[in-house]
Amino acid sequence: METMTENKSENKKRVFSAIKPTGNPTLGNYLGAMQYWGGMSDEYDCIFSVADLHAITVAIEPKDLRENSKRLFALLIAVGIDPEKNVVFMQSHVRAHCELCWLLNNYTMFGEARRMTQFKEKSEKAPENINVGLFDYPVLMAADILLYQTDIVPVGDDQLQHVELCRNIAERFNNRYSPTFKMPEGKVPKAGARIYSLTDPTAKMGKSDSGDAGAVFILDTPETIMRKFKRAVTDSDAAVKASPDKLGITNLLNIYAALCGITVAAAEAEFDGCDYATFKTRVGEAAVERLRPVREKYDALRRDDGRLSELMRAGADTAARIAARTLEKVYKKIGFVRT
Ligand code: TRP
Repeated sequence: METMTENKSENKKRVFSAIKPTGNPTLGNYLGAMQYWGGMSDEYDCIFSVADLHAITVAIEPKDLRENSKRLFALLIAVGIDPEKNVVFMQSHVRAHCELCWLLNNYTMFGEARRMTQFKEKSEKAPENINVGLFDYPVLMAADILLYQTDIVPVGDDQLQHVELCRNIAERFNNRYSPTFKMPEGKVPKAGARIYSLTDPTAKMGKSDSGDAGAVFILDTPETIMRKFKRAVTDSDAAVKASPDKLGITNLLNIYAALCGITVAAAEAEFDGCDYATFKTRVGEAAVERLRPVREKYDALRRDDGRLSELMRAGADTAARIAARTLEKVYKKIGFVRT
């Protein structure tokens, strides 16, 4: 199977995406992105990465980086990404990412990188640690994408600007030398793309705030999940209807619809005349049932560290072989001596 992925068939488009091992993945990450990734391998040639190199642009303890990385890798497989049908790997295990990042730095303008919204936001959040890595973050992301001749990049809407920058870099390089990189396209999943905090439905459900009662984590116990849903903010009205002045209820309806694979209108119809307490319990139960098999599969994987390492090595081997082809071309075109 590995070789099938490597020699990707001509008619299958390539998908690449990655997720940073910062914080604890939430139901929002699951419904907005991860749940779709497993099913994509029928139609696409898929490569998924744990973007551990991206995780150190903000301060992180070594033990947290280590644990988060292992957890996320196991979780990707637990949510349904079959390592026999996809390439799954740790970004830092494939050296080509750092190498291409350095090369691409020289085809990225300071001004265009400085305009990145995420850089500006993160700089404001941590003014004591505006490091060059934080600034370079989108160039490393461009390297991730371009190494694999990617057609489609499934991302959250906050990452579209980075994919745009990646396209600009690719275009600049292709024009300067000759066609080298495929032009990737960013794609935001429609349903469940944005899940908000259960306690503050104006804020995105954040994976970094572990103490937050507003975030449901994929690996939360059923009891914790139920408690969080039961305490979700609603309003003084009593109608289970989505509306701009009912953000809490709207968020819960979105979550329920995404969990059950139905439309919000269908969810509204299902809860017509239902009281808020019952509604919140039902949403909680749907989340518990949906996440149960994920947690079980995850626990089994984490019980066998040797197997996890083996899966990481196999994924990195395949990824490295694909990446090496692009990287070699890039070195040659720039004029580096290759022997
Ligand atoms: N920056 C992305 C995020 O924060 C994660 C990421 C790193 C990524 N490299 C990537 C996403 C390449 C898509 C493609 O979500």
